[in-house]
Amino acid sequence: MADSPKVVDEEVGVTREFRTAGVVGLGTMGAGIVEVFARNGIDVIAVEIDDDSVARGRHRILGSLERAVAKGKLSEDGKRDLCDRVRFTTRLGDLGEADLIVEAVPEHLDLKQRIFAGLDKVAKPEAILATNTSSLSVTEISVATCRPARVIGIHFFNPAPVMKLVEVIRTVVTEEQVVADIEALCARLGKVDVTISDRAGFIANALLFGYLNHAVSMYESRYASREDIDAAMRLGCGLPMGPLALMDLIGLDTAYEILDTMYRRGGRDRRHAPVPLIKQMVTAGLLGRKSGRGFYTYEKPGSPVVVPDEHTPDQGVTGNGARPVSQVGVVGSGLMATGIIEVFARAGYDVIYVARGEEKSAKVRAAIEASMEKAVQRGKLAEADRDAALARITGSTRLDDLAGVDLVVEAVVEELSVKKAVFANLDEICKPDAVLATTTSSLPVIECAVATTRPDRVVGLHFFNPAPVMRLAEVVSTIQTSQETVAVTRAVCVQLGKHPVQCADRAGFIVNGLLFPYLNDAVKMLEASYATADDIDHAMKQGCGYPMGPFELLDVVGLDIALAIQRQLYMEYREPGYAPAPLLEHLVTAGYLGRKARRGFRDYNR
Ligand SMILES: NC(=O)c1ccc[n+]([C@@H]2O[C@H](COP(=O)([O-])OP(=O)(O)OC[C@H]3O[C@@H](n4cnc5c(N)ncnc54)[C@H](O)[C@@H]3O)[C@@H](O)[C@H]2O)c1
Repeated sequence: MADSPKVVDEEVGVTREFRTAGVVGLGTMGAGIVEVFARNGIDVIAVEIDDDSVARGRHRILGSLERAVAKGKLSEDGKRDLCDRVRFTTRLGDLGEADLIVEAVPEHLDLKQRIFAGLDKVAKPEAILATNTSSLSVTEISVATCRPARVIGIHFFNPAPVMKLVEVIRTVVTEEQVVADIEALCARLGKVDVTISDRAGFIANALLFGYLNHAVSMYESRYASREDIDAAMRLGCGLPMGPLALMDLIGLDTAYEILDTMYRRGGRDRRHAPVPLIKQMVTAGLLGRKSGRGFYTYEKPGSPVVVPDEHTPDQGVTGNGARPVSQVGVVGSGLMATGIIEVFARAGYDVIYVARGEEKSAKVRAAIEASMEKAVQRGKLAEADRDAALARITGSTRLDDLAGVDLVVEAVVEELSVKKAVFANLDEICKPDAVLATTTSSLPVIECAVATTRPDRVVGLHFFNPAPVMRLAEVVSTIQTSQETVAVTRAVCVQLGKHPVQCADRAGFIVNGLLFPYLNDAVKMLEASYATADDIDHAMKQGCGYPMGPFELLDVVGLDIALAIQRQLYMEYREPGYAPAPLLEHLVTAGYLGRKARRGFRDYNR
């Protein structure tokens, strides 16, 4: 992005002092923004539309402060000082002394333009007018005023007092000095900022909302339950909350408007067309936390506490009808197979693993011994338990040795012909009631099922890498998998200390289906030179609380693996937005595969 020449604001000099800020709209975001300013010693004039809304806004702010006091993060005196700094009003005319006014009203262009035209009349000439819009054009909002050069986007993240990121959006006419002053203000507020140009969704929402919408469509099509979709993304990717819980936090009405705007402004990407269920829920008043009910039900409006409702799964269901599994077979000798054998043995199962050849078999055993030794060293495994676990593991080179097992987990190479052959053999060898599971991450489980004469006993059991560490397991049922097989598999997962989530047999299951399109979108954003890899990584970590940014994660996963999964998703859904980013293809062709090649999006040789 080329920087325009620095224009010093002659009226205000080099640095503006922000003593008083105005905040218009005290909803989910506005209330949080008031708190951020007041906590940092800035007086706030807080504006709402009418007295009832003022009362609700005040209640929101107080609620958040009281939670901070309860957690010991704020003293009673601190709370009082903070409250004294905020004045509430229903008149825009009271904003005359504000040095900065942040608008946080609902996401409608005409409403925001009207407010900005009004603010322009009442604000002092040097005041900066900012919008907290998530997706609308800051430029279009700015031209409703006579001072577009002093209009800027300041996009806080939800909850504003907690999330560190602020996206600063400069339009083509925003003065450089205004940008610099807002960047300095962000630092004073303890925020980190990325400064970007005016594009629908900016960085974080452009990458987030396709994913959120996709998660809603999975839920709408009963692909998986709300609990399972959310648990999959928390446990499989380490996200701070699942997508449906996040929709509830954002507010479904706000999310709808953001998606709708992104669809219209962002090239009519179908993935941003709001899933019909969102509109239905908004119409029914199910707006998320703020109304007390959205995808989940909350204790009361505004409360973060989820309470059970008619969709809450019966905790006792897991394991019902499940037969005991005592002996397990694992086929394969790679990274996943090795981890899976260890997980089963440590959970008390007898395991027979089958490798192709003595050498491979010995390597597996050595790797498991080393891994368990590490666990002992770290105090996570007692020596006696290690010895018992190792004694439960038997290596073999013959599938025939699996004749007596109750469950087989196949973890051979990700090639359909190889997996089908293994399943056909297992079907001949194993007891008729043994469950046959595949750990495939991208191939159709039904293909393995139809290679056998017992498709009802074939299931997907997708572990995450490293298997001994990651708590999630996806249990994938095909159109032929029996309820009993699913129950047995879920019960085994629980026994292993894993959290099972259940989904249908579609490319990517839950986690990869939601994760990889987002990663691919990040590559496309980089390719379009909208932001740097560092800024994008930063935005997702600081704005959304992700443990890693998309480029860090891609380099860890391996660009070749990411490309293969993205291709599978594209082939299955034929969704144009899933087409692999050309940059990803080129990096793979060049051999820049990520950390394993010491070069991917970043160079690890330096
Ligand atoms: N919710 C999020 O997670 C999130 C995150 C970042 C940015 N945003 C953006 O912040 C803005 C506000 O979203 P929200 O989620 O806080 O919405 P919200 O519906 O929770 O709150 C909007 C508030 O604006 C008030 N309002 C409406 N018209 C007004 C007027 N004329 N004058 C004064 N107040 C008025 C409403 O009474 C309401 O309290 C939107 O532009 C949204 O895109 C939202």
